[in-house]
Amino acid sequence: MVDWTAKFAGRTAYMRRSSIREILKLTRHPEIISFAGGLPAPELFPLERIQSAMRVVLEQRSAEALQYSTTEGCNDLRDWIAARMSRGGLQVTRDNILIVSGAQQAIDLVGRVLLDDGDSLVLENPTYLGMLVAWRPYNLRFSVIPTDADGLLVDRLEAVLRQHPKLMYLVPNFQNPQGVTLSHERRVQLVKLLAEYGGVVVEDNPYGELRYSGAAIPSLVELDAQQRGSRTLDGHVIYAGTFSKILAPGLRIGWIAAPTVVIDKLVQAKQSADLQSSTLSQLLVYEACKDGFIDGHIERLRATYRDRRDLMLAALAQHFPDEVRWSKPEGGLFLMVTLPEHLDAAELLKEALNYKVAFVPGTDFFIEGGANTFRLNFSNAQPAMIEAGIERLGALLKAVLVRQPA
Ligand SMILES: Cc1ncc(COP(=O)(O)O)c(C=O)c1O
Repeated sequence: MVDWTAKFAGRTAYMRRSSIREILKLTRHPEIISFAGGLPAPELFPLERIQSAMRVVLEQRSAEALQYSTTEGCNDLRDWIAARMSRGGLQVTRDNILIVSGAQQAIDLVGRVLLDDGDSLVLENPTYLGMLVAWRPYNLRFSVIPTDADGLLVDRLEAVLRQHPKLMYLVPNFQNPQGVTLSHERRVQLVKLLAEYGGVVVEDNPYGELRYSGAAIPSLVELDAQQRGSRTLDGHVIYAGTFSKILAPGLRIGWIAAPTVVIDKLVQAKQSADLQSSTLSQLLVYEACKDGFIDGHIERLRATYRDRRDLMLAALAQHFPDEVRWSKPEGGLFLMVTLPEHLDAAELLKEALNYKVAFVPGTDFFIEGGANTFRLNFSNAQPAMIEAGIERLGALLKAVLVRQPA
């Protein structure tokens, strides 16, 4: 028998399975109402449009669609993304765009290209778990900045930037897991600080188009260009986008928008990772999205997700005990619940599964703290399930607080 674990590379000691993917296995049971995943509503997948796009691709472009393509990605899709990103005044060109297999690959590739072992990384606490899973093997030093209802506390950033950290990672819109959004004022302050200290940030933006209330806020990549008095991407931001939440995650298509010098290096990293993202998926996404279809589709998603968010917020207000608090997101797929300090959400989950309802305990999203928090997804469950699930959780929380008062 081979002792394989003795042969694993040292860096694998920092690798972990995503706890969410493990919890999702437990919640597949049909009786369980799960608020655990980050899943879009499957009934909203634009099936007919995808079917017709697939027919067009296979009838008109099959030789291209089934063939190897360039690592950078299909030009039609790169041009379409560049034009769409240029709508707010930026001048994005095809050369700024690398097509990747979802924003998760964007994160992985950025890590390969920018991070050395022991580098320091600035992040918000809590942060996106998939980034931690991807970058932990670099044995990074984390400079952790807390958040409030307006996102990262940017006034804590200057002291950190003075130490010249390698990189910063942020989800400014409807963050996963908290659902909070970085305010306009703080974004302006942030890009100013990055310019002053020569810092760089990864702006991971899977949810930006899923806004249900409040006014849209310019992205960091736009504000960074503005403050340079420029329209190009040659600044301090690497932007990651994805079709996962606005079209379908199973297609596995996302993109990186960055200065061309960064794109060139990312292309080399992607060549070693997977040569290219699926040509078939790329052409399918292009055919499905073009002609403005995606804008109408996003409107439909917004309408449904807005209702589900409102429903969940109303159910929380009705059923949760007074000692419990939660975030009130203006968009995205998630909100975060904060329990009284003495309660542990991982323990609560064990009992919640007996009540046939599931969520993701917050600890794994936090670099420090967070044991008394959990994340709820409001996009995936049908309205009746949202009502029933929150009522069950409320009943459990009331019982727990009688048993374990603060
Ligand atoms: C903040 C964030 N980044 C990246 C991803 C990965 O998305 P993709 O499906 O595009 O790989 C997710 C998915 O939930 C996410 O929440």
